[in-house]
Amino acid sequence: MRGMAGDPSKFARDLPKAELHLHIEGTLEPDLMFELARRNAVPLPYASVEDVRQAYVFSDLQSFLDIYYAGCRVLLQEQDFYDLTSAYLQRASKQGVRHAEIFFDPQTHTDRGVPFESVITGIHRALAEGRERLNVSSGLILCFLRHLPEDAAMRTLSEALAYRDWLLGVGLDSSEVGHPPSKFQAVYDRAREAGLLPVAHAGEEGPPGYVWEALDLLQVRRIDHGVRSLEDERLAGRLVEEQIPLTVCPMSNVKLRVFPALRQHNLKRMLERGLLATVNSDDPAYFGGYVADNLEAAAAALELSREDLILLARNSFMASFLSEGEKRRHLNDLSGFADQPSLKTTS
Ligand code: ADE
Ligand code: ZN
Repeated sequence: MRGMAGDPSKFARDLPKAELHLHIEGTLEPDLMFELARRNAVPLPYASVEDVRQAYVFSDLQSFLDIYYAGCRVLLQEQDFYDLTSAYLQRASKQGVRHAEIFFDPQTHTDRGVPFESVITGIHRALAEGRERLNVSSGLILCFLRHLPEDAAMRTLSEALAYRDWLLGVGLDSSEVGHPPSKFQAVYDRAREAGLLPVAHAGEEGPPGYVWEALDLLQVRRIDHGVRSLEDERLAGRLVEEQIPLTVCPMSNVKLRVFPALRQHNLKRMLERGLLATVNSDDPAYFGGYVADNLEAAAAALELSREDLILLARNSFMASFLSEGEKRRHLNDLSGFADQPSLKTTS
């Protein structure tokens, strides 16, 4: 890490930050997968934790999703969703996360016969406890699976509205190419009418045209990934002009071969271009690192400075759905952290 005094990994970890792109199902670590498989008597296609890790080699988004959805089969009871979320929050807190806006994929579970109520109640209970015990605030974003039809998303939204007060927003994930945002215009209209804040994965594998659609048709407030936006100069200009946040996930992008290596990632170019980019972990149990690990790895590969990392942490709060007062409080904490004499740059 350029211009960095002290231990770069401690710096990335201690930096106060928000995480805005995190699939709770993507935090299922192999040891918990084995424990839940045993508890629920679900057979696993893996002999050991080591065997699981060896299976996590992906050629693209779909090859990952196949394994990710298979892993979800061990999640059956409310307690499982609680344990999953609780484990994430403990890890996130140790990685300097002060606020997390968390995705969940209810259709992955309800389509297997798990009641929506078990999913959301388990997650919600752990989030409430995380606020009290770890001082990590949070919000929950319901994602629609874009490979399924829009009427399935609409039914999921109807069911979710019984828990309206536990939800912050809606998102769109799963297989991107062939499933453009325009397919989900009506369900987003309804979600926005209910006061849910819209975000969507776009421009991960899909073309810049999908990012335009997410902005214009779904009226999203953030773009998840959006790394392909830089291929379209006019789109990049709009994102800068309107300061629309991009929730970038560097390690995910390398694992899913969006970029051949971290050194080729366009995160630094995004910052240079004036985009409101943030760094996040996406599915950390599958991609090998939580949010501070992503910051540290990106910093090493792209020669990001201490100031770049502070800017990324600042962006994470600015891009969040926190109130203006809460943002100010976190930004003050961040300034206090950055001003510590022990962290002065070496250059
Ligand atoms: N679901 C979980 N992780 C995802 C990703 N990176 N892209 C799309 N859908 C996902
Ligand atoms: Zn994602």
